[in-house]
Amino acid sequence: MARRLADRYGLGGGEADATAPNGPQLDWTPPAWNPTLDLILSHRSVRRFLDRPLPDGVPQTLAAAAQSAPSSSNLQTWSVLAVTDPERKARLSRLAGDQAFIRQAPLLLVWLLDQHRLRYVGRAQNRPVEALDYVESFLLGAVDTALAAQNATVAAESLGLGAVYVGAIRNRPAEVAAELDLPPHVVAVVGMAVGWPDPDAGLEVKPRLPQAAVLFHETYAWTDAQTAAVEAYNPRIRAFQQRQAMPQQDWTTQALTRTAGPASMAGRHVLREVLGGLGFELR
Ligand SMILES: Cc1cc2nc3c(=O)[nH]c(=O)nc-3n(C[C@H](O)[C@H](O)[C@H](O)COP(=O)(O)O)c2cc1C
Repeated sequence: MARRLADRYGLGGGEADATAPNGPQLDWTPPAWNPTLDLILSHRSVRRFLDRPLPDGVPQTLAAAAQSAPSSSNLQTWSVLAVTDPERKARLSRLAGDQAFIRQAPLLLVWLLDQHRLRYVGRAQNRPVEALDYVESFLLGAVDTALAAQNATVAAESLGLGAVYVGAIRNRPAEVAAELDLPPHVVAVVGMAVGWPDPDAGLEVKPRLPQAAVLFHETYAWTDAQTAAVEAYNPRIRAFQQRQAMPQQDWTTQALTRTAGPASMAGRHVLREVLGGLGFELR
């Protein structure tokens, strides 16, 4: 338990150093510990997969876990598309930042915000579904899609599989829609590569921001304590990068580079227009 928490906040020496901790400690402890917490706190994205097929039933099991997530008004305005065809994965990889792990993973799940089903039902019953044209319905669908996808991630990890999200599936949404034969009012929100993790990848948990920068009580208050918490994160993420033999860069620098402007958005700055073309009015 202590080790999982220390790793999550980068307070020890990382998984490579079993003799940690050697830095600041948490000033709280969980009321209990259990396998669910252990699994959730052990999450790390996997980008290197073994050349080993998945057993039967994986897409179905992950879909069942996904469908077990809550859904706003139980509208269930999402779907998931399982892609295993190597050529289709290769084409989708090219559309999604040419990320090699998409080709390597035996399974690519594409999580779809799907208003088609409900619009079809509305048409069949000659009932209006005008609320679906509003930003609120799009946001609701995106939230539901994300909750479903994350349940699937946890389920995959519980099976010993590894997964990584693919936000880059939104780099060229219209071409992705054409590749997947998506009808109007359906858009890929995020992809997810799933496979057996390569044990040689030396993966470890990536530390997150200190809770002081994230968890507020009663009301929101940004004070020097929050600023200090963000600053304390930079050396922890750099230590992680060093252990992973990655180029070292402060989190603040990374995050500000990623959010600098349209040029740092990998083509996604035109998303509003593209969504219009896919049928979403976003009123
Ligand atoms: C919505 C979403 C989209 C993401 N897209 C990508 C992606 O396109 N490529 C990638 O390598 N990682 C992607 N990631 C993974 C994040 O980089 C990763 O979760 C983050 O760096 C934290 O690392 P961890 O998951 O190992 O804790 C994405 C994660 C999320 C939640």
